[in-house]
Amino acid sequence: MEKNAKIYVAGHRGLVGSSVVRKLQNDGYAKVITKTSKELDLRRQTDVEVFFERERPEYVILAAAKVGGILANSTYTAEFIYDNIIIAANVVQSAYRYGVKKLLNLGSSCIYPKFAPQPIKEEHLLTGVLEPTNEPYAVAKIAAIKLCRYYNEQYGTNFISGMPTNLYGPHDNFNLETAHVLPSLVRKFHLAKLLIQKKYDEIKKDLNMTAVGFNLNLNLDPAHLLEKLGITTEYLMLWGSGEPYREFLYVDDLADACIFLMERYNYKEIGECVNVGTGEDVKIKELASLIQKIVKYEGAIKHDASKPDGTPKKLLDVSRLKSLGWQSKTSLKEGLRNTYDWYLSRL
Ligand SMILES: NC(=O)c1ccc[n+]([C@@H]2O[C@H](COP(=O)([O-])OP(=O)(O)OC[C@H]3O[C@@H](n4cnc5c(N)ncnc54)[C@H](OP(=O)(O)O)[C@@H]3O)[C@@H](O)[C@H]2O)c1
Repeated sequence: MEKNAKIYVAGHRGLVGSSVVRKLQNDGYAKVITKTSKELDLRRQTDVEVFFERERPEYVILAAAKVGGILANSTYTAEFIYDNIIIAANVVQSAYRYGVKKLLNLGSSCIYPKFAPQPIKEEHLLTGVLEPTNEPYAVAKIAAIKLCRYYNEQYGTNFISGMPTNLYGPHDNFNLETAHVLPSLVRKFHLAKLLIQKKYDEIKKDLNMTAVGFNLNLNLDPAHLLEKLGITTEYLMLWGSGEPYREFLYVDDLADACIFLMERYNYKEIGECVNVGTGEDVKIKELASLIQKIVKYEGAIKHDASKPDGTPKKLLDVSRLKSLGWQSKTSLKEGLRNTYDWYLSRL
């Protein structure tokens, strides 16, 4: 990508998009175009066409999507399939129509089959049944990858897909109803620590700063309210058994990989998609105890095994990306520290 090229980052306020924009700006890319979903709702085909016709971006990084954890995925099923299909279809079609040189579509590790062999290779896409709790999202994201592929085949475009593992970092979603496991753990440990310390004003400040979800009445007294979230003065109750293994990539590493892929990955040479991860996973229980140490929570941890765990293990095979010359740099400990520091800086 030329430093003065017009680059449209869709979803620039999100976890991924905000990091990609920071990285592009730090690297000296001068013409980064962004629009909030209010300014441009990517579900509206005509609006998307008008935008592409007017702005004529040369490169597109598609990081706009409806994203969430197990609970949000299994609650807002229609929105997860519709929004994600229509956003991808509108952006890919306009990118083709208005001559975008390269488009990077963001897929996800959770769209591979539930029982894919581990570590998961790119070839495992569509080789088995999906995890039921996120099937609507997965079907839409798979459709996006196939859209890119078949536009490349029929129209000779260069639309590529990266398959990031679970991401985390500054600007993540900390709403406990819709968040992924890692930010949800960070916030719960933080609230649990405040409860033990009887810092009720700080708890209130936290609850008012970021939506907590579950339609909770914020006027309840803090201890009563936190109990509804499984947080008491004695213990913190976590969703699921804590036994599944997950891989986590710090979002600034993903942003670095996105720019790398825009430079080095062409559909014709590499194919449909490339996994982006660290190549290492950790048990959710171990992740919880790492966060416990970083937050300095001194109470007990309990696991509610009646809540769904999702896929037992999910580790990406990152050899394709490694062979291109990219590797992640941020350790889980360092990334968690940065994430917690960012969380605290907003309170
Ligand atoms: N988070 C992860 O762990 C993870 C892992 C693997 C892959 N991914 C993929 O990475 C991409 C970005 O995820 P993320 O975690 O950064 O999501 P996010 O933090 O929820 O941000 C999503 C962004 O999409 C935008 N958006 C949503 N609906 C839109 C619409 N109708 N029109 C225009 N913009 C819309 C939002 O814009 P506004 O803020 O302006 O409303 C928001 O900034 C997704 O494709 C996701 O599947 C994420």
